[in-house]
Amino acid sequence: MRIGVIGAGQLGGTLATWCAESGHEVAVTSRHPDRLTDLVEHGEGHIRALTIPEAAAFGEVLFFAPNWESAREAIDLAHDAMAGKVVIDATNPARVSVPIEGAPGPGGLGSFAPGFPSALDVPAFVCVPDAPGTNRELGVPARSGFEELIGWAPDAHWVKAFNTISTDVLDRRRGHDPLLAEFVCTDQRDAREAACRIIQELGFAPFFAGGPEAARLTETGGPLQRREVDVQDAKDVLAEALATIH
Ligand SMILES: NC(=O)c1ccc[n+]([C@@H]2O[C@H](COP(=O)([O-])OP(=O)(O)OC[C@H]3O[C@@H](n4cnc5c(N)ncnc54)[C@H](OP(=O)(O)O)[C@@H]3O)[C@@H](O)[C@H]2O)c1
Repeated sequence: MRIGVIGAGQLGGTLATWCAESGHEVAVTSRHPDRLTDLVEHGEGHIRALTIPEAAAFGEVLFFAPNWESAREAIDLAHDAMAGKVVIDATNPARVSVPIEGAPGPGGLGSFAPGFPSALDVPAFVCVPDAPGTNRELGVPARSGFEELIGWAPDAHWVKAFNTISTDVLDRRRGHDPLLAEFVCTDQRDAREAACRIIQELGFAPFFAGGPEAARLTETGGPLQRREVDVQDAKDVLAEALATIH
């Protein structure tokens, strides 16, 4: 399969290498293509460096892994080629979520996927940019970055995955029993199938967490962010995560 990786930094570069090792043809992007020389060489002919629009057009499936501050700019460049394609979003918005005193719940944001509580049960939060160098995570955001991305490129088939665990942990756990659970959030069948297939090929165990609203649990401030979970424990950990937002 042809895979385009938009944002080949620490995470995107790692995923690109593993996808090439799994037999895929991969395109990676950077505003500074010289920084991709090692990655391309390591790919032994299966990784090429392209611009964002070119990589988005090249990939049958896309990984979206720029830093969050660049997400909108990257979407604007890739938008046209993303339409109808599966896009695996691995980003985490850098922000804190601060409860709004006395505010009602975030009605109108839609309900969680089947089996999830209503969004009306979730306290209202306002999201503000995180201060540089800080890592305050005060709660589940009222709206995930993933839902924002869907709004920016609604014709893409979005799926959230690979955003909860750092690359060093992924590298340590890759292919080892018990397999590490990778939480998957989407409401698109083809996106779920493609993400699950790639997660398995890369040596992890896909675990479906719910629709786009469930991404709130996995991103910055959510209870699944940075949780290293063995696949046999994923169901209980997801249930615990849901309980924290009641
Ligand atoms: N690193 C991890 O372990 C890890 C794990 C899970 C999730 N994540 C998430 O993955 C995302 C990327 O993290 P990272 O650690 O891989 O970051 P990183 O190493 O800093 O890489 C960031 C990538 O974003 C690209 N980028 C920056 N500004 C851009 C712009 N204006 N237009 C287009 N592309 C731009 C960079 O490309 P240039 O070469 O052009 O600068 C680079 O490829 C973050 O949202 C992070 O939360 C990371």
